[in-house]
Amino acid sequence: MAAAPAASAAGRETGVGQPAVAGRSVVAFCCRECAYAAADASANARTSLPPTVRLVLMPCTGRVSPLHLLSALAEGADGVMVAGCLEGQCHYREGNFNAIDRVAFVQRLLKSVGVAPERCRMFTMSAGEPPKFVAAVKEMDRVIGGLPPLERSAVPAVARGAA
Ligand code: FES
Repeated sequence: MAAAPAASAAGRETGVGQPAVAGRSVVAFCCRECAYAAADASANARTSLPPTVRLVLMPCTGRVSPLHLLSALAEGADGVMVAGCLEGQCHYREGNFNAIDRVAFVQRLLKSVGVAPERCRMFTMSAGEPPKFVAAVKEMDRVIGGLPPLERSAVPAVARGAA
């Protein structure tokens, strides 16, 4: 990736410090084994991603908790995505199935407080599918770009307290 990574509590971030575009941003939690590898391959092929997207490297999507997703929204992200291995191909066996459940939980939580659930999405891909990663990121950017600004006060208080 072009930008120098910086350490964070959740994992390794890419693009930290770069300005968000048009006041919106998407945080993508990517598993190291497939999604981040696909992102890296797309970067090596010089495929440009929407500048709204910030990548967070995770060992596995099973490591992503609902609090990571809600905290990102509470701290300024307009959308969050989890990108992992294809179903049945998680290198830690069931991590991506856990992530699918957690994303669904966060979507229900967001919907219950009047926030569009599509602000949180799950995507799966293999390391050999950089175009699928790029398409997922562009899809998130397109969806978020079509939504009104996120009311931070609507994000569940537990996330704002933890942020
Ligand atoms: Fe990729 Fe678990 S290692 S989702």
